[in-house]
Amino acid sequence: MFPHQLLLLPLLLATTPLTLASPSPLHKRSVTCVKVGATATASWTNSAGETCSYTGVVGSNYGENSAGGDYSCNGRCGTGCTGVAIGNVYTQDCWSHDICSYFNNASGGASDPNCGAAFEAAEDDFLLGYLDGCSQTNPTNPVVKPTASPVCS
Ligand SMILES: *[C@@H]1O[C@H](CO)[C@@H](O)[C@H](O)[C@H]1NC(C)=O
Repeated sequence: MFPHQLLLLPLLLATTPLTLASPSPLHKRSVTCVKVGATATASWTNSAGETCSYTGVVGSNYGENSAGGDYSCNGRCGTGCTGVAIGNVYTQDCWSHDICSYFNNASGGASDPNCGAAFEAAEDDFLLGYLDGCSQTNPTNPVVKPTASPVCS
């Protein structure tokens, strides 16, 4: 996830009770933990309306992408392994957003054309993942670039 999230945090915290009382009709609020070291399938909808998927390992380290983003702890809710976060939370939605962002050079959080919806789906994970027991010890993996690419159709 991106530094923009830091700017959103106070707003999110301020509006959390309202958000929880009135779930967005567009995004189901749910937090599903994923285990560091486990294989997981990321999925998102791209700007062309296609469904994309990619299977990889939670906590993998892809280093920087060509847009300069930090993908050192894929699946963690927060930038890389060390970006501001509430615990070291790993969830399905944060995994999907990280993978989408890596491959699409995403920026701008919710405004990104490919990964904005995945960003919004991950907001509740960022806020509530710790309470939901998704915090784990960060892995210390070397940078290994992915060899596969997402499939979209
Ligand atoms: C990401 O950026 C790199 C370098 O500018 C470019 O080669 C690549 O096509 C971009 N990927 C996408 C999905 O925009």
